[in-house]
Amino acid sequence: MAMLSTKSLPELSDNEVPVVHTELPGPKSRALWERERIYSSPGLSALATLSQLVLDEGYGALIRDVDGNVFIDFSMAMIGVSTGHLHPKITAALHEELTHFLHTYDMASTARVEFFELLASIMPEQLRMFQMYSGGTETVEAALRLAKSATGRYEFIGLYRGFHGKSMGSLGLMGIGYKNGFGPRAPGFMLTPNAYCYRCPLKLTYPSCGVACADMIEEVYANESMGQVAGVVIEPIQGAGGIIVPPAEFMTKIADFCRRQGLLLIVDEIFSGGGRTGKMWSFEHFDIAPDIVTLGKGIGSGYPVGVVASSEPVMREAPWAQPGGGSTTFGGNNMAARAAQATLQTILEEGLSEHAAALGAHMLTRLREMQARHPIMGDVRGLGLVLGVEFVRDPVTKEVISAQEAAFLFHACLRRGLMLPTATSTLRIMPSLVISQELADKGLDILEEGIDELEKWMEI
Ligand SMILES: Cc1ncc(COP(=O)(O)O)c(C=O)c1O
Repeated sequence: MAMLSTKSLPELSDNEVPVVHTELPGPKSRALWERERIYSSPGLSALATLSQLVLDEGYGALIRDVDGNVFIDFSMAMIGVSTGHLHPKITAALHEELTHFLHTYDMASTARVEFFELLASIMPEQLRMFQMYSGGTETVEAALRLAKSATGRYEFIGLYRGFHGKSMGSLGLMGIGYKNGFGPRAPGFMLTPNAYCYRCPLKLTYPSCGVACADMIEEVYANESMGQVAGVVIEPIQGAGGIIVPPAEFMTKIADFCRRQGLLLIVDEIFSGGGRTGKMWSFEHFDIAPDIVTLGKGIGSGYPVGVVASSEPVMREAPWAQPGGGSTTFGGNNMAARAAQATLQTILEEGLSEHAAALGAHMLTRLREMQARHPIMGDVRGLGLVLGVEFVRDPVTKEVISAQEAAFLFHACLRRGLMLPTATSTLRIMPSLVISQELADKGLDILEEGIDELEKWMEI
């Protein structure tokens, strides 16, 4: 087994990691995990429950557990820490902000002014008015309220395999399994097919299909709505649904439909925004002009923050625009604003979008080379540092691997020092925007060793 390192994470060079020197979970993790189990509700993420690791320290693309094992992190706390763990510029900005206030409600503050000015400078003209929130689903709920307020209508169309959070409005837009068992879909929500070309919902093939999936929105609108649709809510790149990047025409058709029908185009950038796809916002890969955009996750580098961005005409309608119509207790918090301002500033200063584009292209090429050696890698896809691999038992039938097999791969990689975000048939790879090519390559080498082990176990 590898030796325990006494160096702190910032002191470790790429060739000294990962280090796994205990069985997993190690004795200290196990003891703390058992103590937490007494009080902690079931329902935690697969990452927490499968790894049972107790984390002690993070820096950049690395994490260390309480037993001193060091892992390359391809999960970034479910994509919530875009600039890497404890980026010195972000921690310095937060320390400085903490000398002023921990919380100021949504009162104007220097931090908020500086964040809004920076955000406005990198947003298109129609998205330069903001309201802040504390998390993703709360931000999506706010965007729905804003759209209702601006249009006077109350229905929404989302996409198959969409994910926008787990509160009741967001759950109405849910296309994947997390909705099951939580009662009827809230009234006013309907879904339309997405462009999932590997498993086309219409059983067609791109490009000969003419992106017919996008045309289905006309049918949903005509047949399912009560004529009161306020907006269409989409992720430019579907994240939790399986890293699904649509053909450009899909997005153009949806945007054209919205324009023709007078609906608001609401784009959820919570998963894919903030430089990760190789552009600051993932909608910039497409020829569309959103009316409302939601931001969250990585743009706070780990500090909870969400933003609804729109135009003044949309934001000035009541009831949204009435005093308190859009605010929450912690949403406009000065610390959150400082974290987001420092994160965006760092992404710009350090060219992290450009890094994500170049490194993402390199990783995608490597994953495609691996796919040629491993038919179990049914589909490889992604943009920048939002990458996905869909694992199948058979590339012809496309039967997905089981949850047990996905968990086997998760553990095979963890034992070798790579933290994957989840254990589902579609593996999501989303390292920090500051990860070096050397560490990214090491992570992919480990992934391939894990796949070898899985294939032997599955006897394929
Ligand atoms: C696109 C998208 N929107 C909204 C959310 C909800 O964010 P949160 O978990 O912070 O509520 C997520 C979370 O994964 C997401 O991926």
